[in-house]
Amino acid sequence: MPETSAIVKNLLRWYRRNARDLPWRRSANAYEAWIAEVMLQQTRASAVIPYWKRWLASLPTVGALAKADADQVLKLWEGLGYYARARNLRKAAQAIQENHGGKFPKRFEDILALPGVGPYTAGAIASIAFGQARPALDGNVIRVLCRVDGVTACVKRSEVNRRLWNRAEVLVRCASRSRKPPPSKTRVSPNPCGDFNQALMELGATVCLPRRPLCDLCPLRRICQARRNNLAESLPNVGKRRKSARRNHVAIVLRKRGKLLVRRREAKEINGGLWEFPSNEAGAGDPGGFQWLEKVWRQPPEALRILGEIKHSITVHRITLKVYAAEVKRGFCRLGESYRWILPDELQRLAFTGAHGKIVRWIAASRCDCGQNSKISREELAL
Ligand code: ADE
Repeated sequence: MPETSAIVKNLLRWYRRNARDLPWRRSANAYEAWIAEVMLQQTRASAVIPYWKRWLASLPTVGALAKADADQVLKLWEGLGYYARARNLRKAAQAIQENHGGKFPKRFEDILALPGVGPYTAGAIASIAFGQARPALDGNVIRVLCRVDGVTACVKRSEVNRRLWNRAEVLVRCASRSRKPPPSKTRVSPNPCGDFNQALMELGATVCLPRRPLCDLCPLRRICQARRNNLAESLPNVGKRRKSARRNHVAIVLRKRGKLLVRRREAKEINGGLWEFPSNEAGAGDPGGFQWLEKVWRQPPEALRILGEIKHSITVHRITLKVYAAEVKRGFCRLGESYRWILPDELQRLAFTGAHGKIVRWIAASRCDCGQNSKISREELAL
């Protein structure tokens, strides 16, 4: 196993020369770091930047988030996916108001006790915002450590995971004893622990890539065990992947006197609290979803226009969503409380699930085209 001090020294030096100038790295504000870290669990740093800026402009403090409307928070999160994270951010802000007088807690145990905060997020905040020697192990860091140390065991095994957390802790403790560099433009104050953890994440995100790692550019190339043994591309060992399953879903955009029917997903459902058009899984007995459209929505096939098809994935499910539109004339079935008829202009104010957000964009695009190309877009889209 390569020497701890060699990894720390090389990585810190590399990070201080090569770190991307990401907006959340310009301050050591715990609230700002927290929002960034939770968003970064969803997607790449470049995609997070506009979300993070928009969030901070609307909700600049813990207090603002604690007081925010749940719908506003979901709207700011719209497109990032896994909306429980956004709901937990708000709950955690309320807990900080209540239990810590609105000040972000500094004690690791207090950070970890916040709703939605696990060991990774707590370690990232404690090290980045408060300079504490706490490890933060995410997918990128697991990949870097497995490769540097040549860990060939499956990372899904609990003892392997524990070993990696221990290794990350030893490394960040070693970083805490390293000499602090002079302050720089992109760092508020020198912080070896925060810098080291971010260096591991940065290396995983920019050099030690899952496929085709850029080993020639790596500051650890001389000591990396995976490189030495020609194993870089095959590590980490993640065991057998679950097979993906194809699913067919159907959605309908119903219009009645210029208004569209939308539904709010219930709290206990996936994506609870978000909006969508009426939709359903098309099971084996009704692969096109036509029975559902006819039985539940009273729309026989001849009344339907096809709007398009959306492919998206949720966990291992590869979903094909067929989207229809229909005009509702007289009378209509009884609707539950979660349904609402709204004007097309109001769609923009609600937070939709990823796939249904795409339908909203189709609708917006067809309306925008109306000036030049109204016939085609109105007729084709039946809206
Ligand atoms: N991924 C998770 N946290 C990160 C951070 N602070 N910088 C870069 N990539 C990250």
